[in-house]
Amino acid sequence: MASLRLTLPRHALRQTCLPTLHPTLSLPQTRKHSSVSADELTHFSALASSWWDPMGPSRILHLMNPLRHEFIASCLAEGSPSPTTEPRATLNYLDVGCGGGIFAESLARTIPLNTNTAPTPTLAATMTAIDPSTDLIRMARSHARNDPTVDAHLRSGKFRYLNTTLEDVIAGTAPTTTESSSPGSSSSQDLSQNSNPAQYDIVTLFEVLEHIDPKTSTPLTFLTNCLKALKPGGWLIGSTISRTLPSFLLNQVIAEAPWPIGVVPRGTHEWSKFVNPDEVKGWLQEGLMRVADSGVYRGGRAEVEGMRWKCVGAVYVPGIGWKMVKGSEDWGNYFWAVRREF
Ligand SMILES: C[S@@+](CC[C@H](N)C(=O)[O-])C[C@H]1O[C@@H](n2cnc3c(N)ncnc32)[C@H](O)[C@@H]1O
Repeated sequence: MASLRLTLPRHALRQTCLPTLHPTLSLPQTRKHSSVSADELTHFSALASSWWDPMGPSRILHLMNPLRHEFIASCLAEGSPSPTTEPRATLNYLDVGCGGGIFAESLARTIPLNTNTAPTPTLAATMTAIDPSTDLIRMARSHARNDPTVDAHLRSGKFRYLNTTLEDVIAGTAPTTTESSSPGSSSSQDLSQNSNPAQYDIVTLFEVLEHIDPKTSTPLTFLTNCLKALKPGGWLIGSTISRTLPSFLLNQVIAEAPWPIGVVPRGTHEWSKFVNPDEVKGWLQEGLMRVADSGVYRGGRAEVEGMRWKCVGAVYVPGIGWKMVKGSEDWGNYFWAVRREF
């Protein structure tokens, strides 16, 4: 399987290999207006069984995870959405495109088991992690059960894995139970028809923006939906990859080269879908105005003038790991964050 993944382009993998490689692979139906690309879903679902292998195809995500916690801590230090001045575990997190749960599970581990336990730096009270891939959510749940603390949070409902889309969360039609269900399923048992969609203190979007379907959505629409899921005062925090020449060389030519040079499976990325920091910032500015104005664009709003925006590059140094390097945003990977003030 590894050699096929490494030598075939993604469309070939998709069309010729998957049925043989993953006879049990089940792809959820994608909604007409969802941002989920069937190709991306096939690609990531095929990685489910190796997701938690620290030396496997998701190795780079495992190595990046500590930096995510560091970046979130820096956002909270600048302004906490917490209603209390004392540090208390009050924050509700939503992880969009959680995959097999590398970040979601590590965040769930920071949720205190009971109210007497001291809060951790994430101030997390709950974590809801969503992904459109049924196979990845299944893998995420199964892995989470190995840790008694995380398992306890799954049982109490403080930690939920939902096989659903951002669009369904926004529409209030996402399943509220942690039972497996397919996005687009019309089973009324799985779906809650809340008229008010849930809102979260922190929405995270790690390595997802570059995978949304350009045929059915846009980064602007997707980011606006993320902002809609955010409470006023909350942070939208993400990471993605710049569309520059250095990033092409690093992320497509070198990172997707055959083993032992390459670190991700061939076909993981499409350079044309990468997004630059100024583009993300612009979409977030417009997204904030759309959220504030309920869809009507008006310039010069306070939301945008006072927009709290953070951005820092992340560089992978073989043998050392990921480091945040200010000014390296154009080389490839970078973290970004915006606060929804109102
Ligand atoms: C590179 S993986 C990142 C997984 C996880 N965020 C992490 O960094 O560990 C991209 C994930 O985004 C999910 N995804 C792709 N398109 C999506 C969409 N339109 N909405 C939400 N998730 C999506 C995929 O199923 C996959 O799990």
